[in-house]
Amino acid sequence: FVIIAKYCTPSTWANRPPDMANRPPLRLVSGLPVVGHFAENWENVQCFQAGDGDLIIDTYPKSGTTWISEIVDLILHNGDTEKSKRGPIYERVPFLEFAVPDMPTGTEILNTRKPPRLIKSHLPVQLLPASLLEKNCKAIYVARNPKDVLVSYYNFYHMAVVHPEPGTFEEFFQKFIKGQVSFGSWADHVKDWWKMRQHRDILYLFYEDMIEDLKREIRRVMKFLGKELSEDIVEKIHQSTTFKAMKENHMANYTTIPSTVMDHTISPFMRKGTHGDWKGYLTVAQNELFDEYYKKEMADTDLTFRF
Ligand code: A3P
Repeated sequence: FVIIAKYCTPSTWANRPPDMANRPPLRLVSGLPVVGHFAENWENVQCFQAGDGDLIIDTYPKSGTTWISEIVDLILHNGDTEKSKRGPIYERVPFLEFAVPDMPTGTEILNTRKPPRLIKSHLPVQLLPASLLEKNCKAIYVARNPKDVLVSYYNFYHMAVVHPEPGTFEEFFQKFIKGQVSFGSWADHVKDWWKMRQHRDILYLFYEDMIEDLKREIRRVMKFLGKELSEDIVEKIHQSTTFKAMKENHMANYTTIPSTVMDHTISPFMRKGTHGDWKGYLTVAQNELFDEYYKKEMADTDLTFRF
């Protein structure tokens, strides 16, 4: 097995026969394609009761959710790294829509906790449970350029085995630009949250800015959360949330999640953690097609991305 794991490339693994019990097809809920298991818990997600002070961390998948979650948890615990190691990130910041066999659902975990809670979600802004809006919950949104999202998502689909088989990169590319992947259209997601920030208490961040100057972005999050921390603590948070530190941290890197949910022998969750990895994936033709897709989708917004 070790030899197979060492010499099989991700694409060889992808060619193995699909395990349909673990890899059910996506299902449409409220018009949104989601992982089959997630669809079964959808009613509980929509009925979720938010409380005063709950903070929602929302992203389109693969845009830096885990990164910002670790940063927020550390800020709220004054940079205490022992406290941030009290449990894996998916327990410290429960994923609202999460539902897989033999694990507590996101809503089950959240319902046992008292507000103020940290809540992770990938929901488009229109599908947020009404109570989050009624309670005026603050939100932090992170967006990432779609070419890197596409590449990250393709690798994630392989290893997060609750997703359908992604097929070849070209096949996944086609599905992505048609919004036929879990959580739907990237463009609608980032644009609708961008619009919503004018009306709600939303901090809208970019993955590329976090790569460029992580400390600056940590300070922006602190300001948004009304937290003042010393320069030493900011430095400590910075050191604990570099890609290298998080890749080595079992409480942040998802290695503790059952392999029936994520199989790190296929591809690690903490994969590259860079800006521009897409350059090694997209062919010239795919890149041209993607640029057309981006131009068309982003024609009606002032939101722009760095590639
Ligand atoms: P790659 O697959 O490009 O490496 P999410 O948490 O939303 O699923 O996003 C996962 C992506 O964020 C992965 O991207 C992962 O490596 C990257 N990531 C996680 N922690 C990071 C960090 N501290 N610095 C940079 N990138 C990070």
